Amino acid sequence: MLNFNGKTAVITGAGRGLGAAFALSLASMGCALILCGRREADLLAISARVTAQGGMAPKVVELDLADAVSVEQAAARIAALAPKVDILINNGAMWLESRDMPYSDAEVLGVVNAAITGTFLLVQGIRPLMQASDAPDIVTIGSISGLPNAALQSVSVPFYAAKRGQVALAEGLRQDFIGSKFRSILINPPYLDDAIPDQPDWAEAALRDKGQRGTGRDVVEAAVFALTRPRHVSLTIDVDADEGGLFS
Ligand SMILES: NC(=O)c1ccc[n+]([C@@H]2O[C@H](COP(=O)([O-])OP(=O)(O)OC[C@H]3O[C@@H](n4cnc5c(N)ncnc54)[C@H](OP(=O)(O)O)[C@@H]3O)[C@@H](O)[C@H]2O)c1
Repeated sequence: MLNFNGKTAVITGAGRGLGAAFALSLASMGCALILCGRREADLLAISARVTAQGGMAPKVVELDLADAVSVEQAAARIAALAPKVDILINNGAMWLESRDMPYSDAEVLGVVNAAITGTFLLVQGIRPLMQASDAPDIVTIGSISGLPNAALQSVSVPFYAAKRGQVALAEGLRQDFIGSKFRSILINPPYLDDAIPDQPDWAEAALRDKGQRGTGRDVVEAAVFALTRPRHVSLTIDVDADEGGLFS
Protein backbone atom coordinates (compact mmCIF):
# COMPACT_ATOMS: atom_id res chain seq x y z
CA MET A 1 0.00 0.00 0.00
CA LEU A 2 1.44 3.35 -1.05
CA ASN A 3 1.53 5.89 1.68
CA PHE A 4 2.05 9.62 1.98
CA ASN A 5 2.03 9.70 5.78
CA GLY A 6 3.52 12.90 7.13
CA LYS A 7 3.14 14.73 3.81
CA THR A 8 0.99 17.76 3.11
CA ALA A 9 -0.43 18.41 -0.34
CA VAL A 10 -2.00 21.56 -1.77
CA ILE A 11 -4.50 20.83 -4.55
CA THR A 12 -5.96 23.55 -6.78
CA GLY A 13 -9.37 23.20 -8.39
CA ALA A 14 -10.16 20.67 -5.66
CA GLY A 15 -13.91 21.28 -5.47
CA ARG A 16 -14.87 18.85 -8.21
CA GLY A 17 -13.68 16.60 -11.04
CA LEU A 18 -10.05 15.59 -11.15
CA GLY A 19 -9.07 17.82 -8.22
CA ALA A 20 -11.63 16.06 -6.02
CA ALA A 21 -10.32 12.68 -7.20
CA PHE A 22 -6.80 13.75 -6.17
CA ALA A 23 -8.11 14.86 -2.78
CA LEU A 24 -9.86 11.59 -1.97
CA SER A 25 -6.99 9.47 -3.31
CA LEU A 26 -4.13 11.26 -1.55
CA ALA A 27 -6.11 11.43 1.70
CA SER A 28 -6.68 7.65 1.56
CA MET A 29 -2.88 7.27 1.37
CA GLY A 30 -2.38 9.32 4.56
CA CYS A 31 -1.70 12.75 3.07
CA ALA A 32 -2.83 15.92 4.87
CA LEU A 33 -4.59 18.25 2.46
CA ILE A 34 -5.13 21.90 1.74
CA LEU A 35 -7.93 22.15 -0.79
CA CYS A 36 -8.01 25.30 -2.93
CA GLY A 37 -10.67 26.56 -5.31
CA ARG A 38 -13.10 29.31 -6.17
CA ARG A 39 -16.10 28.07 -4.18
CA GLU A 40 -15.71 27.39 -0.47
CA ALA A 41 -18.96 25.36 -0.36
CA ASP A 42 -17.60 22.89 -2.96
CA LEU A 43 -14.32 22.57 -1.06
CA LEU A 44 -16.16 21.93 2.21
CA ALA A 45 -18.28 19.25 0.51
CA ILE A 46 -15.15 17.44 -0.73
CA SER A 47 -13.55 17.92 2.67
CA ALA A 48 -16.57 16.18 4.27
CA ARG A 49 -16.21 13.27 1.82
CA VAL A 50 -12.51 12.95 2.74
CA THR A 51 -13.32 12.71 6.44
CA ALA A 52 -16.26 10.34 5.73
CA GLN A 53 -13.80 7.87 4.18
CA GLY A 54 -11.49 8.17 7.21
CA GLY A 55 -9.00 10.76 5.96
CA MET A 56 -7.60 13.65 8.00
CA ALA A 57 -9.85 16.72 7.87
CA PRO A 58 -8.53 18.94 5.05
CA LYS A 59 -8.08 22.68 5.35
CA VAL A 60 -9.77 24.79 2.69
CA VAL A 61 -8.53 28.00 1.06
CA GLU A 62 -10.41 30.12 -1.45
CA LEU A 63 -8.36 30.69 -4.59
CA ASP A 64 -9.12 32.20 -7.98
CA LEU A 65 -6.11 31.42 -10.13
CA ALA A 66 -7.17 34.07 -12.66
CA ASP A 67 -6.78 36.82 -10.05
CA ALA A 68 -3.23 37.64 -8.91
CA VAL A 69 -4.46 39.24 -5.66
CA SER A 70 -6.43 36.11 -4.80
CA VAL A 71 -3.35 33.97 -5.48
CA GLU A 72 -1.22 36.16 -3.20
CA GLN A 73 -3.84 35.98 -0.44
CA ALA A 74 -4.19 32.20 -0.83
CA ALA A 75 -0.42 31.70 -0.58
CA ALA A 76 -0.40 33.73 2.67
CA ARG A 77 -3.34 31.74 4.01
CA ILE A 78 -1.62 28.43 3.18
CA ALA A 79 1.51 29.66 4.99
CA ALA A 80 -0.63 30.39 8.06
CA LEU A 81 -2.11 26.87 7.95
CA ALA A 82 0.95 24.71 7.27
CA PRO A 83 4.62 24.98 8.26
CA LYS A 84 5.61 22.99 5.17
CA VAL A 85 4.12 21.78 1.90
CA ASP A 86 5.48 18.62 0.25
CA ILE A 87 3.27 18.31 -2.82
CA LEU A 88 1.57 20.96 -4.95
CA ILE A 89 -0.95 19.67 -7.49
CA ASN A 90 -1.48 22.37 -10.12
CA ASN A 91 -4.84 21.00 -11.24
CA GLY A 92 -7.06 24.09 -11.53
CA ALA A 93 -7.42 25.60 -15.01
CA MET A 94 -10.36 27.16 -16.81
CA TRP A 95 -11.93 25.11 -19.60
CA LEU A 96 -12.99 26.96 -22.78
CA GLU A 97 -14.52 25.04 -25.66
CA SER A 98 -14.29 26.04 -29.32
CA ARG A 99 -17.27 27.95 -30.74
CA ASP A 100 -18.05 30.35 -33.61
CA MET A 101 -18.94 33.47 -31.66
CA PRO A 102 -16.19 35.72 -30.25
CA TYR A 103 -14.87 35.03 -26.77
CA SER A 104 -15.24 37.73 -24.14
CA ASP A 105 -12.22 39.49 -22.65
CA ALA A 106 -13.02 37.78 -19.34
CA GLU A 107 -12.98 34.33 -20.94
CA VAL A 108 -9.66 34.85 -22.71
CA LEU A 109 -8.01 36.50 -19.70
CA GLY A 110 -9.47 33.84 -17.39
CA VAL A 111 -8.26 30.85 -19.36
CA VAL A 112 -4.74 32.22 -19.89
CA ASN A 113 -4.33 33.68 -16.41
CA ALA A 114 -5.57 30.60 -14.54
CA ALA A 115 -3.34 28.17 -16.45
CA ILE A 116 -0.21 30.29 -16.66
CA THR A 117 -0.08 33.47 -14.56
CA GLY A 118 -1.93 32.19 -11.50
CA THR A 119 -0.30 28.77 -11.60
CA PHE A 120 3.16 30.35 -11.73
CA LEU A 121 2.41 32.90 -9.00
CA LEU A 122 1.10 30.16 -6.71
CA VAL A 123 4.25 28.08 -7.26
CA GLN A 124 6.33 31.15 -6.47
CA GLY A 125 4.18 32.06 -3.47
CA ILE A 126 4.39 28.69 -1.72
CA ARG A 127 7.91 27.79 -2.77
CA PRO A 128 9.33 28.90 0.62
CA LEU A 129 6.93 26.45 2.33
CA MET A 130 8.04 23.68 -0.02
CA GLN A 131 11.67 24.51 0.75
CA ALA A 132 10.89 23.20 4.26
CA SER A 133 10.09 19.76 2.80
CA ASP A 134 12.78 17.09 2.34
CA ALA A 135 11.15 16.02 -0.92
CA PRO A 136 9.15 18.82 -2.57
CA ASP A 137 7.20 17.86 -5.69
CA ILE A 138 5.17 20.09 -8.01
CA VAL A 139 2.73 18.15 -10.18
CA THR A 140 1.20 20.07 -13.08
CA ILE A 141 -1.87 18.74 -14.87
CA GLY A 142 -1.37 19.89 -18.44
CA SER A 143 -3.25 18.36 -21.35
CA ILE A 144 -2.55 16.50 -24.54
CA SER A 145 -3.83 19.77 -26.11
CA GLY A 146 -0.72 21.43 -24.68
CA LEU A 147 1.69 19.18 -26.57
CA PRO A 148 3.52 20.54 -29.63
CA ASN A 149 1.58 19.81 -32.85
CA ALA A 150 -1.47 18.53 -30.95
CA ALA A 151 -4.69 18.62 -32.98
CA LEU A 152 -7.01 21.47 -31.94
CA GLN A 153 -10.03 19.10 -31.79
CA SER A 154 -12.89 20.81 -29.90
CA VAL A 155 -10.80 23.11 -27.71
CA SER A 156 -10.73 26.88 -28.20
CA VAL A 157 -7.54 28.53 -29.44
CA PRO A 158 -7.07 30.41 -26.11
CA PHE A 159 -7.34 27.14 -24.14
CA TYR A 160 -4.94 25.40 -26.56
CA ALA A 161 -2.41 28.22 -26.13
CA ALA A 162 -2.91 28.37 -22.35
CA LYS A 163 -2.28 24.65 -21.98
CA ARG A 164 0.82 24.88 -24.18
CA GLY A 165 2.01 27.63 -21.85
CA GLN A 166 1.22 25.55 -18.75
CA VAL A 167 3.20 22.63 -20.18
CA ALA A 168 6.10 25.03 -20.85
CA LEU A 169 5.81 26.27 -17.27
CA ALA A 170 6.24 22.74 -15.90
CA GLU A 171 9.15 22.07 -18.27
CA GLY A 172 10.78 25.39 -17.34
CA LEU A 173 10.46 24.58 -13.65
CA ARG A 174 12.10 21.22 -14.23
CA GLN A 175 15.13 22.99 -15.72
CA ASP A 176 15.10 25.58 -12.97
CA PHE A 177 15.11 22.78 -10.36
CA ILE A 178 18.27 21.06 -11.66
CA GLY A 179 20.68 20.79 -8.75
CA SER A 180 17.91 21.36 -6.16
CA LYS A 181 15.72 18.93 -4.16
CA PHE A 182 12.57 20.03 -6.07
CA ARG A 183 10.95 17.97 -8.83
CA SER A 184 8.54 19.19 -11.50
CA ILE A 185 6.24 16.39 -12.66
CA LEU A 186 3.93 16.87 -15.65
CA ILE A 187 0.88 14.75 -16.43
CA ASN A 188 -0.93 15.40 -19.73
CA PRO A 189 -4.45 13.91 -19.76
CA PRO A 190 -6.61 13.16 -22.80
CA TYR A 191 -10.35 13.96 -22.79
CA LEU A 192 -11.58 12.37 -19.57
CA ASP A 193 -14.63 10.80 -18.05
CA ASP A 194 -14.96 11.63 -14.36
CA ALA A 195 -14.01 8.97 -11.84
CA ILE A 196 -14.05 9.67 -8.10
CA PRO A 197 -12.73 7.21 -5.49
CA ASP A 198 -15.89 7.16 -3.36
CA GLN A 199 -18.18 6.52 -6.36
CA PRO A 200 -18.84 3.35 -8.43
CA ASP A 201 -17.19 4.96 -11.50
CA TRP A 202 -13.78 4.56 -9.79
CA ALA A 203 -13.94 0.76 -9.80
CA GLU A 204 -15.39 0.76 -13.33
CA ALA A 205 -12.47 2.92 -14.53
CA ALA A 206 -10.00 0.17 -13.67
CA LEU A 207 -11.82 -2.29 -15.93
CA ARG A 208 -11.92 -0.21 -19.13
CA ASP A 209 -10.90 -1.81 -22.39
CA LYS A 210 -8.81 -0.50 -25.27
CA GLY A 211 -10.91 1.96 -27.27
CA GLN A 212 -12.61 3.54 -24.27
CA ARG A 213 -11.92 7.04 -22.90
CA GLY A 214 -9.43 7.85 -20.19
CA THR A 215 -10.70 8.70 -16.72
CA GLY A 216 -9.64 10.76 -13.75
CA ARG A 217 -8.39 7.53 -12.17
CA ASP A 218 -5.83 7.09 -14.97
CA VAL A 219 -4.49 10.59 -14.29
CA VAL A 220 -4.39 10.28 -10.49
CA GLU A 221 -2.61 6.92 -10.73
CA ALA A 222 -0.09 8.31 -13.25
CA ALA A 223 0.67 11.17 -10.84
CA VAL A 224 0.99 8.82 -7.85
CA PHE A 225 3.35 6.61 -9.89
CA ALA A 226 5.51 9.66 -10.70
CA LEU A 227 5.44 10.89 -7.09
CA THR A 228 6.62 7.53 -5.77
CA ARG A 229 9.62 7.12 -8.12
CA PRO A 230 13.09 7.50 -6.60
CA ARG A 231 13.99 11.15 -6.43
CA HIS A 232 16.58 11.17 -9.20
CA VAL A 233 13.81 10.95 -11.82
CA SER A 234 11.18 13.57 -12.71
CA LEU A 235 8.52 12.17 -15.02
CA THR A 236 6.36 13.64 -17.76
CA ILE A 237 3.49 11.26 -18.55
CA ASP A 238 1.17 11.62 -21.55
CA VAL A 239 -1.96 9.66 -20.71
CA ASP A 240 -3.25 8.72 -24.15
CA ALA A 241 -6.38 6.81 -25.17
CA ASP A 242 -7.87 5.78 -28.54
CA GLU A 243 -11.08 7.68 -27.70
CA GLY A 244 -10.43 11.36 -26.89
CA GLY A 245 -6.70 10.91 -27.22
CA LEU A 246 -3.95 12.70 -29.08
CA PHE A 247 -4.57 11.03 -32.44
CA SER A 248 -8.32 10.40 -32.31
N1 LIG B 1 -11.53 16.76 -18.09
C1 LIG B 1 -10.79 16.60 -19.16
O1 LIG B 1 -11.21 16.02 -20.18
C2 LIG B 1 -9.37 17.12 -19.17
C3 LIG B 1 -8.53 16.83 -20.26
C4 LIG B 1 -7.23 17.34 -20.26
C5 LIG B 1 -6.77 18.10 -19.21
N2 LIG B 1 -7.62 18.38 -18.17
C6 LIG B 1 -7.13 19.22 -17.09
O2 LIG B 1 -7.38 18.60 -15.85
C7 LIG B 1 -7.57 19.61 -14.84
C8 LIG B 1 -8.86 19.33 -14.08
O3 LIG B 1 -9.94 19.46 -14.94
P1 LIG B 1 -11.28 18.63 -14.71
O4 LIG B 1 -11.12 17.37 -15.42
O5 LIG B 1 -11.64 18.55 -13.29
O6 LIG B 1 -12.36 19.47 -15.50
P2 LIG B 1 -12.60 21.02 -15.73
O7 LIG B 1 -14.01 21.18 -15.96
O8 LIG B 1 -11.68 21.48 -16.80
O9 LIG B 1 -12.25 21.67 -14.30
C9 LIG B 1 -11.36 22.65 -14.13
C10 LIG B 1 -11.01 22.72 -12.65
O10 LIG B 1 -10.25 23.90 -12.49
C11 LIG B 1 -10.93 24.77 -11.60
N3 LIG B 1 -10.78 26.14 -12.03
C12 LIG B 1 -11.19 26.70 -13.19
N4 LIG B 1 -10.89 28.01 -13.21
C13 LIG B 1 -10.28 28.28 -12.02
C14 LIG B 1 -9.76 29.44 -11.42
N5 LIG B 1 -9.78 30.62 -12.05
N6 LIG B 1 -9.23 29.36 -10.18
C15 LIG B 1 -9.20 28.18 -9.52
N7 LIG B 1 -9.69 27.04 -10.02
C16 LIG B 1 -10.22 27.09 -11.26
C17 LIG B 1 -12.38 24.32 -11.64
O11 LIG B 1 -13.02 24.70 -10.47
P3 LIG B 1 -14.43 25.49 -10.45
O12 LIG B 1 -15.37 24.54 -9.78
O13 LIG B 1 -14.13 26.71 -9.63
O14 LIG B 1 -14.82 25.82 -11.86
C18 LIG B 1 -12.21 22.83 -11.75
O15 LIG B 1 -11.93 22.25 -10.51
C19 LIG B 1 -7.56 20.94 -15.58
O16 LIG B 1 -6.26 21.49 -15.53
C20 LIG B 1 -7.89 20.53 -17.00
O17 LIG B 1 -7.44 21.46 -17.98
C21 LIG B 1 -8.90 17.90 -18.11
